[in-house]
Formats: sequence, structure tokens, C-alpha cells
Amino acid sequence: MRQKLVAGNWKMNGSAASIQTLLDGIQAGLASVKNAEVVVCPPFVYLAQVAQALAGTSMAWGAQNLSKEALGAFTGEIAAQMLNDFQCKYVIIGHSERRSFYGETDQIVAEKYATALKHGLKPILCVGELLSEREADQTEAVIARQLDAVIALNGIDALNQGVIAYEPVWAIGTGKTASPEQAQAVHAFIRSRIAAQAPDLAQKLQILYGGSMKPDNAAELMAMPDIDGGLIGGAALKAADFLAICQAA
Ligand code: PGA
Repeated sequence: MRQKLVAGNWKMNGSAASIQTLLDGIQAGLASVKNAEVVVCPPFVYLAQVAQALAGTSMAWGAQNLSKEALGAFTGEIAAQMLNDFQCKYVIIGHSERRSFYGETDQIVAEKYATALKHGLKPILCVGELLSEREADQTEAVIARQLDAVIALNGIDALNQGVIAYEPVWAIGTGKTASPEQAQAVHAFIRSRIAAQAPDLAQKLQILYGGSMKPDNAAELMAMPDIDGGLIGGAALKAADFLAICQAA
């Protein structure tokens, strides 16, 4: 049985005050979450606050991005070892907003994956197709290309230390969720593609769904055999909604 995981991706939202309210609200309801590891990924500047608030709790936290470089003259970037300073367990890598707005290629994503592993961070590797790619029947080809770049640089065994998030780009922040069957089909494709090289690893690998997961669709998505949790954007910003998703796991 794979452990379920629900991670909140807060994106560029929140303030010191609103984050405190959100964390207090999540913690107040955490005892009702039985089956999922609960993770939050705040903007970098709030990691210290989150680390302090969550130290010693069952929750984990992570960053939304990292630099592929170690340290040095890279203005505006954040290094993996800085994330270690704030006890991050996870780091989101290759989110579609990074790929589309900030030009992150499959190669850059693969290098970031390597950097995360080198520093003991668990990557949440995001993959997913655009609407135009789905309509052109390219979904599997796109996902395969995104996965293969990471495997080519890091080796298949590197996937042991991470988590995959399937996030169809057309479902992110749009309110258009993939149906449980649509999501399951891609999750099964991802698992079978990895199983072809590493069957045991594929069985253990957590594959999250992301893209307009909400309290009213979370249970049916996470009931699918290959969906092991969620990467939650909008609904992670309200404690009650986020908790309801965690409880549905
Ligand atoms: P959403 O975002 O839940 O708001 O669609 C998910 C994500 O981008 O990780």
C-alpha cells in the first residue's frame, strides 16, 4: 500500500499574517487526517515562519522551486542548501508555471532534480500536457519526454527518492478537473512506463494528481488505483478546503 500524500502549493500567495491563520487552521484539524502525509509549500520568504510553526508536528514542508546551481553569483536564485537550513523535506520541480513562464526546459528540470537529490530534498516532479497537446493525442508522448529527461540524467533509481505529480496544464487553476478516468489513465501510463525499467520502484512510487482538485472531487480522484494523493493550488489556501482534501485521501 502506498502512503497517500497531499501537498499544498501556495504559489505566490499569502502574507505573514494570512499564512499564520492558514497554518493555525490546518493544525487545528490535523488530527482528523488519518491516511495522508500533509505538506505545505510556501513562498521562499515564509519558509522560516512555516518551519518554526510546524517543527515537531506531523506535517512537512517544502519549497516551490530551487536553483540547479550550488551557490554563487546567481542573483535572485535560491540554493538547495538554503532549503536545508529551513528543514525543507520536499521541493516542487518543473511545475508547468515554471516551464511556461520562466522557460524551464526538460533539461533544466532534470538538472534541478539532480541538485535536489544531492542535498537530500525529495523532488515533487511535475509533468503534464497542454490542452493543445491532449487534443493532438500527444499526452503520452509529452509525459514520456518529460519523464525520460529526468531519467536520462539521473538514472531510473533516482525516482525512488522523489514523487511525481501529474498536472494536466489545462486543469490548473481553471476549475476544469480531469475526470478520475482521464487522470487514472495517465497515472497508469506513468507507472507502467517506469515499471518497464524498474517494476518494484514503480509499485512504490507515489504519483499525485494536480489541477483543480477540490473538496468535492478529491475523494473520487484519490480512490483511483494509481492516484496516490494531490498537489493542490487554489484549494490549499483555505484551511477548511485543504483539510477536507486531506481527509478524503
Ligand atoms: P490548482 O493548482 O489546484 O489551483 O489547479 C494546482 C497546481 O498548480 O499545483
